[in-house]
Amino acid sequence: MRSLDEAINAGQSGADGGRWVIRGGRLLSADAEPVVVDLVIDGERVAAVEPAGTADAGPVFDAAGLDIAPGAIDLHVHLRDPGQTHKETVETGTAAAAAGGTTLVCDMPSTQPQVTTVDRYVAKRDAWTGRAAVDYALWAGGTDPDQLRGMAAAGAVGVKIYMATSPGFDQLYSPDDTAVRRVLRVSAELGWAVSVHAGDQAASDAHRAELIRAGRRTPADVLAVTRGPGNLAGLRSVLTAATDLRQPVHLAHLSAYGTAALDEFVRARAEFPRLTAESCFPALSEEEDLPRLGVYALPTVFSAAARDRFVDAIADGTIDAIATDHAPHTRDEKDPGRHDAWAAPPGYPALETSLPLAYDALLAGRLDPRRFVDALAGAPARILGLARKGRIAPGCDADLVLLDPAGSWRVDESTMHSLVGWSPLHGRELRGRLVATYLRGRSIARGGDIMYPGGGQFVRRSTGRAVAAGGPGSTEKVPGAAERRSS
Ligand code: DOR
Ligand code: ZN
Repeated sequence: MRSLDEAINAGQSGADGGRWVIRGGRLLSADAEPVVVDLVIDGERVAAVEPAGTADAGPVFDAAGLDIAPGAIDLHVHLRDPGQTHKETVETGTAAAAAGGTTLVCDMPSTQPQVTTVDRYVAKRDAWTGRAAVDYALWAGGTDPDQLRGMAAAGAVGVKIYMATSPGFDQLYSPDDTAVRRVLRVSAELGWAVSVHAGDQAASDAHRAELIRAGRRTPADVLAVTRGPGNLAGLRSVLTAATDLRQPVHLAHLSAYGTAALDEFVRARAEFPRLTAESCFPALSEEEDLPRLGVYALPTVFSAAARDRFVDAIADGTIDAIATDHAPHTRDEKDPGRHDAWAAPPGYPALETSLPLAYDALLAGRLDPRRFVDALAGAPARILGLARKGRIAPGCDADLVLLDPAGSWRVDESTMHSLVGWSPLHGRELRGRLVATYLRGRSIARGGDIMYPGGGQFVRRSTGRAVAAGGPGSTEKVPGAAERRSS
């Protein structure tokens, strides 16, 4: 039997065609207890999951003592390409993903120009070709029904609705309930995913203006608006619209809005179970990190109580998915916020630490293995309608990570891949260590090193119909699962 190092060094690759075996790793999955298995890979796909020590199909690599899990699927990233490539590029952002165990990113339409037309969608899609280290899907934006239909045909997995606006988001803006409902109706027809940045711009603007008039300008003041009545009102209104129209809606970055938003979501989902929500894995503390990091920690920090609520909600499946809202800004852009927090753009790089944070929580006993897998991979794949992603099962893409539960590491921004070169988690010690990331059978990252850049492919929905949001461990079959429409 060969060592796993050999497998990784050889870039053991689906592209090389053959069958090979990862022997004796502990498979984590959404629908079964962890079990030590042999995993048979054939080309780009998982061929079989067999009892440990029994598979005999080509080269065999030793994964004893390691955990095997699906690569993460991040529903919400801002890779800034095209348009703001001083912050992030396809190459750097997807390298951060690969190095952190994320094998598919779903990029928001807030790149420049904003992705509101078929022409812009196709131009962005084509411009990413051959440059990404991981697979990628792209959200559509805007409100024009004809353009939305065209972007769906061009491969958009869904639409991002912005109920709030800011520079660079103006064309994505749905200014009122009528605009939101128009997009929801088109989406019902298309059967694609709908992600919503909830808000009420006028109410938030008024709140901000009132604080500024009172001379308030600390990170806590900015947080008060983010978690304030405007965003909560917007949240309630889109939850009502989705429920009225019976159109599944996914709530982006619920964690940014605080625990009151979680309460609203729980209430609405009791009435309409096809609502879904995402949170980053809670990491930054309001008591310790916010005073130290200031605007570098905005917009998502957690009080001790909120952190417990959100971790519990991820752990019990109330919150479906872990997504980063990876939003890199340079230090030069963030720094003016040291004196006036309103002057800094919100967001921080998070892709490279997302799966590692969840694995740390798994090892600490805060997240069981089923939820670890479903929140990072299973649920995002269902929400996006990607039949061959998000699980390790025969016929699925061999997108996976090998994790060492006995290892540990310290987050070091100087070795990370995001172009901005900083991480709010710099210095944090995490349990567990990501050993390797595989994309469609090929080793793309080992530890922090990128082994194979540029092999990521564009991914579109496997089906034109919406996929019901299954609960934790759902094994729901997607119609047309055998057919891959793209990539
Ligand atoms: O914090 C955020 N930053 N939230 C968003 O929705 C946008 C993002 C960005 O683009 O920087
Ligand atoms: Zn975002």
